[in-house]
Amino acid sequence: MVGAGFVGSTLTQRLAERDYADMVMYDIVPNMPQGKALDMLQAGPVLGYDSLVIGTNDYSETANSDVVVITSGFPRKPGMTRDDLLKKNQEIITQVTQQVVKYSPKCIMIMVTNPLDAMAQLAWHVSGFPRERVIGMAGVLDTARLRTFIAQELHVSVRDVQTCVLGGHGDTMIPLPRMCTIAGVPIAQLLSAERIEQIVQRTRDGGAEIVKLLGTGSAYYAPSASVLQMVDAILLDKRMMMPCAVYLQGEYNIKNLFVGVPVLLGAKGLEQIIEIKLSEDEQILLQKSADAVRELVNVMGI
Ligand code: NAI
Ligand code: 2OP
Repeated sequence: MVGAGFVGSTLTQRLAERDYADMVMYDIVPNMPQGKALDMLQAGPVLGYDSLVIGTNDYSETANSDVVVITSGFPRKPGMTRDDLLKKNQEIITQVTQQVVKYSPKCIMIMVTNPLDAMAQLAWHVSGFPRERVIGMAGVLDTARLRTFIAQELHVSVRDVQTCVLGGHGDTMIPLPRMCTIAGVPIAQLLSAERIEQIVQRTRDGGAEIVKLLGTGSAYYAPSASVLQMVDAILLDKRMMMPCAVYLQGEYNIKNLFVGVPVLLGAKGLEQIIEIKLSEDEQILLQKSADAVRELVNVMGI
């Protein structure tokens, strides 16, 4: 884990409780990752896990990691968009990626830092890794938000709600309510179109809603849970299908750009991109979302 802040440390604790991997948390703040790691180790006897957790300010301790999750960088402040973070985090992610590649040249990288799609593209660009080994987390979180709101609305178990959110992690994301079912029943049979649209909009604003409530920092419980699902799929070779930001090379008529689409994750990282048939309107929205990501990539000059 690069970045032992809210998302990085919550994820590390969640992973420790899985009890299938050892972890290293790196951060630039002296002693902080060491303190958090020690605290997590001491939770092991109570919760019953043996995962080793090391905190460090030295990349050499991260050597030969199988999976590297990057959460280092600044989160949003109220009123700030994810894109405002671009320049600040570009510097951090460039330097972090160079170190990650130096010490773990065979790893699979999961990017979390915002603006997500642009930072994933930057890490891919700097690393020189094949696209299978650089994956951005956003779609699982955005989908989880949509699932939560629909379950609340219909008073059903969140487990029964399945859906999909495409596009960049930002205001242009595309929740796909027509693909949303409650145990196989399309939600259009259970909710009015107007109510669905309100829920879709709340999903788009899901991150900002939490930023506003927290007053400082952004969401981390659902984000860390979402990364956990991706790490599970990779380390346990599950071939699970979920929306992730991946480097498209012509799929969905989008070329040379990271955008969120449904993929299969397994031991190789990105195992397969799933091309679902979109309506004309959905394809236009996806293209618009891709344009917004490309704008950021152009600003970064990569
Ligand atoms: P945080 O501020 O709690 O943690 C960030 C950590 O990065 C801090 O501990 C900081 O010391 C560290 N850091 C800064 N520069 C560093 C460097 N050069 N090397 C190593 N560590 C460095 O922030 P939080 O809440 O953990 O969020 C982290 C990032 O993840 C933010 O950019 C946030 O916007 C993003 N995020 C993205 C989500 C997504 O869906 N993709 C969801 C939630 C957060
Ligand atoms: C979120 O959606 C901050 O991007 C993060 O909560």
